Amino acid sequence: MTKVLINEKLVDEQDANVPYNDRGYVFGDGIYEYIRVYNNNVFTAREHFERLLRSAKEIGLELKYNVDELTELIQELLSTNSIVNGGVYIQVTRGAAPRDHAFPTPSVEANIMAFTKSYDRPYKLLEEGINAITTEDIRWLRCDIKSLNLLGNVLAKEYATKYNAQEAIQHRGDIVTEGSSSNVYAIKDGEIYTHPVNNYILNGITRMVIKSVAEDKGIPFNEEVFTLDFLKGADEIIVSSTSIEVMPVVKLDGENVGDGKVGSITKSLQEGFNRYIDTHS
Ligand code: PDD
Repeated sequence: MTKVLINEKLVDEQDANVPYNDRGYVFGDGIYEYIRVYNNNVFTAREHFERLLRSAKEIGLELKYNVDELTELIQELLSTNSIVNGGVYIQVTRGAAPRDHAFPTPSVEANIMAFTKSYDRPYKLLEEGINAITTEDIRWLRCDIKSLNLLGNVLAKEYATKYNAQEAIQHRGDIVTEGSSSNVYAIKDGEIYTHPVNNYILNGITRMVIKSVAEDKGIPFNEEVFTLDFLKGADEIIVSSTSIEVMPVVKLDGENVGDGKVGSITKSLQEGFNRYIDTHS
């Protein structure tokens, strides 16, 4: 029986419920992480837990665990569920309390919940690439926080799905920010361009890995804002996340990106990313 972690207890999936007045359910008042497991190893776990603690701090949510304690809790869940390749979601809310927008007084304990899934790497898509569509970024101005409140992202992804695309690339006015659940890179004349880390994007862990791979390979990694027109004229486009890794975009708004095939810089980053997985897990 698959288990779900609820506040330090491993419970059967069918009994894993949250209270009706949990603030995550009522307000989306909480944060989360998604961490990948490759060959029984939790990939970049420290970076993810550090980001979770940062998100908690940014919203004034008191979490009683440090990185090592979180790692231990999650490890136990993963081994109980025998996850060899897959991932784990960790969701933390400000807890259950009578409905009131302001934080509960006296404060209540945060609720922490985690669930796993088992799946292989998306080999076919990594080789062939995906379609993306562009859409206005309607989200709030703290996209650096990995908040449970994902309505803007959900609507963007649904828009992509409706038009047969796998990802929606968002822009604020002219400036490209990030995907509905990924970071975005335009590659032009052998150089990578991606939005700088600030409040408009999530500081992706996969982005950090890509940056280090690019630096190792001597591929210029420019953390600069760029426009929608620049994206449309790119030689190659990539979107990245914990689940889709270094994913080529071969069609944007129905038009070929470059020659419509996965480009050489993308392939080189994928190769470096594979090596990073092998050496770091
Ligand atoms: N999403 N930007 C957004 C809005 C995201 O939701 C994600 C990841 C990323 C990439 O971050 P990372 O490389 O750390 O996964 C960027 C996860 C996978 C999700 O919501 O399932």
